[in-house]
Amino acid sequence: MSPVVVLVGPPGSGKSTIAAVLSERLGVSHRDTDADIEAAAGKPISDIFVDEGEAHFRKLERAAIVVALQDDGAVLSLGGGAILDPETRADLAAHHVVYLEVSLGEAAKRVGLGVSRPLLLGNVRTQLRNLMEARRPLYDEVAKQTVVTDDKTPDQIADEILEQL
Ligand code: S3P
Repeated sequence: MSPVVVLVGPPGSGKSTIAAVLSERLGVSHRDTDADIEAAAGKPISDIFVDEGEAHFRKLERAAIVVALQDDGAVLSLGGGAILDPETRADLAAHHVVYLEVSLGEAAKRVGLGVSRPLLLGNVRTQLRNLMEARRPLYDEVAKQTVVTDDKTPDQIADEILEQL
């Protein structure tokens, strides 16, 4: 057994929001690897990036994903960069992975200027565009289902996902 569904997508694609709606409607728990990493480290991800660097964060993320993929029956959301790891991409082949697709404009709007996303400091729109362009093929590679999220409510997105489960 494993999570019922795994949500991937760039920052601002709505992974946490949609995971919360799905877990509520399915009556199961919501697990988020970013939250797991923060709980284990005892500090926010932005501090992990500053104190230990991105490479260290990616190691923690990989370890958190290995554990979370064994969580039976949960809705699992992954950090936007989780799919950078080839082993993670290989592991995801065994799961119902949903890629939440979002336009650059909509993602930039949703992410805003919050300081909680260390890779998006500076010009948010430029950083996001680079990151989305580089990662799109990787999201496509792992996705069993792709849902375009612009102009849809969280409930409509959840409906689309639930139809395929
Ligand atoms: C990251 C996205 C973040 C978090 C970390 C790195 C990324 O998660 O895992 O800051 O590389 O895109 P969200 O996608 O939930 O913002």
